[in-house]
Amino acid sequence: MHRQGPDALQRSIDRMLTEANTRMAVGKNEEASRSYHKAAQFAEQMIEMLEDADARRSMTVRATEYKQRARTLTSKGGMDDGRVKPVEDHQADDVTYSDEEADALEQQILLLIDDSPKRIDWETIGGLEALKKELKFHYGLAMAKVPDGVQVEGWNNIMFYGPPGTGKTLLACAVANKLSATFFNVKASQIVSKWVGESGRLISTLYRVARKFTRDGRPSIIFVDEFDALCKSRGGEGQLYHQQMLAAILSEIDGFAQKGKRDLVMTIGATNRPWDLDAAVLSRFERRILIDLPGPEARADIFRIHLEDKGIPVDHRSLSYTRLADATERLTGREIARLCKEVTANMLGEMNPDIPVLVDAGLKRIQDYEIKVRALRQGDFSATLEQLVPDTSEAEEHHYTDWGKALREGKRA
Ligand SMILES: Nc1ncnc2c1ncn2[C@@H]1O[C@H](COP(=O)(O)OP(=O)(O)OP(=O)(O)O)[C@@H](O)[C@H]1O
Ligand SMILES: [Mg+2]
Repeated sequence: MHRQGPDALQRSIDRMLTEANTRMAVGKNEEASRSYHKAAQFAEQMIEMLEDADARRSMTVRATEYKQRARTLTSKGGMDDGRVKPVEDHQADDVTYSDEEADALEQQILLLIDDSPKRIDWETIGGLEALKKELKFHYGLAMAKVPDGVQVEGWNNIMFYGPPGTGKTLLACAVANKLSATFFNVKASQIVSKWVGESGRLISTLYRVARKFTRDGRPSIIFVDEFDALCKSRGGEGQLYHQQMLAAILSEIDGFAQKGKRDLVMTIGATNRPWDLDAAVLSRFERRILIDLPGPEARADIFRIHLEDKGIPVDHRSLSYTRLADATERLTGREIARLCKEVTANMLGEMNPDIPVLVDAGLKRIQDYEIKVRALRQGDFSATLEQLVPDTSEAEEHHYTDWGKALREGKRA
């Protein structure tokens, strides 16, 4: 077929959509369906040409939508023709799915693509310096050119574990950002409850779409948060689906690297309950990495990130990050972020007492008002610091380190 440039393709798509509308308006559904079909074909050609990941994604969504419309129009009587629903018994993953259903699943997967990595860089994560360096090195290895005849392997699958709020998600985002990866953000507990019965199918679609997005050497990162939710057995029918899903994800994690080609789909798991993961799961991940509570230096760093780096002025004659760090032992990054937010909010309340009155006076008044700020002092933190109770107990903290130690000593997995 004659190849067109992106502008010409866009015009062709628009023309086909107009044609489809006109034909539908006069009841020529079969012909309208053909126009949608052609629009989808042009959209697919366009995807090949687009550099930008966001643009590619939105064009993929559009192509799928045109295909769906094309099918709906030909299957008279509506959407249900030729559609096979997952059966009620345990054969869910053996059923044949119509194209329409496969597309619907693919659309759900596209919704998992998350843009938040763009906002996260190594500098927005306090502490963890050695780990950041290690991550850069091993992901660098996974991406760099390999000399002929040499086998070098970087990390394709890693698992972060540790107490809540310590930066696991942030690290996964930073890796994705630096590799310009497409980031699929999957919360295991959600897919377990939402996708009962389509388990294996969903996972294979996820990895297939992720592979489709690896282009020009750009990887896809599948971030599976709360990985433990996939491993907990549940009773009855749910358990079978659960196991199918786990089996599917493990075989996908094993990779599809073809000879001489690198597998650019990487899986990063995260969990607060590593002890719930079974040996089969753990063995799939090249590295299991504890993301522990931040130490004093890291805490000082995290305070700075959540104050000065966000443009909140600080009076350095009075406020010392080291003193704040000393007063916040066993606090996680998330708790420090919350603390900074609270103290900042108190300062803003003190400096801008008229805001509620202005809101009552109407939109224009509040839009014209500029928020006043003042530099934060050590004393601003005193009241909040006095009431602190860390989220993570010492016993919980030890639970993670003990588990990691047992794992390294081969007493687990
Ligand atoms: N090292 C850090 N540096 C800066 N901010 C941090 C750090 N760790 C945590 N935070 C703050 O806490 C929030 C939560 O961090 P994150 O989502 O990475 O935690 P998590 O380890 O994934 O937690 P969970 O196990 O609950 O998913 C971040 O959005 C950030 O505001
Ligand atoms: Mg997280």
